[in-house]
Amino acid sequence: KNVIGVGLLGMGTVGRGVYRILTENRSGIEQKVGVPVEIKKILVRDTAKNRGVQLEEGVLTADVDEVINNPDIDIVVEVMGGIKPALPYALKALKNGKSLVTANKDMVAEHGKELFEAAEANNSDLLFEASVAGGIPIIRPLKECLAANRIQQVIGIINGTTNYMLTRMSKEGLDFQTALAEAQALGYAEADPSSDVEGYDAARKLAILASIAFNTRVSLNQVYVEGITRITAEDISYAADLNYVVKLLGIAKESEAGVEVHVHPAMLPKTHPLAPVDDVYNAVFVSGDAVGDVMFFGRGAGELPTASAVVADIMSAARSKLKHVPGLYNCTCFDEKPVKSMGL
Ligand code: NAP
Ligand code: HSE
Repeated sequence: KNVIGVGLLGMGTVGRGVYRILTENRSGIEQKVGVPVEIKKILVRDTAKNRGVQLEEGVLTADVDEVINNPDIDIVVEVMGGIKPALPYALKALKNGKSLVTANKDMVAEHGKELFEAAEANNSDLLFEASVAGGIPIIRPLKECLAANRIQQVIGIINGTTNYMLTRMSKEGLDFQTALAEAQALGYAEADPSSDVEGYDAARKLAILASIAFNTRVSLNQVYVEGITRITAEDISYAADLNYVVKLLGIAKESEAGVEVHVHPAMLPKTHPLAPVDDVYNAVFVSGDAVGDVMFFGRGAGELPTASAVVADIMSAARSKLKHVPGLYNCTCFDEKPVKSMGL
């Protein structure tokens, strides 16, 4: 193969970032992969909309078959979001032998099993680094770099929108709606921001992290979820007087009794390593029996940080296509374990 063809499903915040990185860093990416990585087609709803980047004539399409059935496309990148039609498109792409890269935590958290089975059956890669904590490398480090450990706990600030909102409410005294409107304008929030503020976005990410960390399958409905909708600037100010910060945390722990998973606002002492993580930044604090404590920190949402993780996945999938080792990074060997949403 002398070129790797990429098809995007979606050209919103993340899709545009993917396009920009693949275009602006083209030569470095080619050097690292070994051949050029080229976007062949992009599925959108409205082909006439201005995308804010210089696109080649005819690259946008409203016909999904031009992406998932296109013989020039090796890797399909799903950055449209939601379950329908993203899931059927993703499954069809895998069945057609394409590798799949996705930033869609809803789809991975709720349909990971189906997706991995389709990837295995078709000898394809399924990569989803951007689905948790935007630009922070966390899926691959948990799955690979920390693989030797028995992971004891994962505690994360894993929603950029709510962390941005809590920061603005705390530092500027903004009210909830104004802080949310700012996060939406910055491209951090989901199309339906209730999944951010009600904690479901963090819960989906926690289900993914806990599944990998504890080598089991944790589903969304096993996660206890409480969002930040009842938090006011006043609550945050009272907490500050007591030397605490308010953060929306995702907590997953494993003990002999099983796995425990919950998402809720929590008061953290200002001395905790997660306490200074502000704005759109996310952080994931992991404790393993061999490594001890490690923390991953960076931008948890936004165009280029998220696209950074997506493009790295595209590059891994490209290398595995070129070297004929598909599925190297897929998670398939899960163990059944008891899972509880709160205190075992
Ligand atoms: P977005 O800005 O809403 O973009 C979605 C894109 O998908 C748009 O280009 C839209 O086309 C296209 N699309 C949606 N439904 C479609 C359909 N039925 N047929 C054809 N095209 C369709 O979303 P985003 O913020 O980029 O997020 C994309 C995914 O990345 C989501 O799964 C999200 O959870 C995840 N993610 C986002 C971030 C972030 O910071 N934004 C970070 C990490 C992960 P039109 O433009 O024509 O409407
Ligand atoms: N809406 C999500 C967030 C996007 O704010 O964290 C990144 O997954």
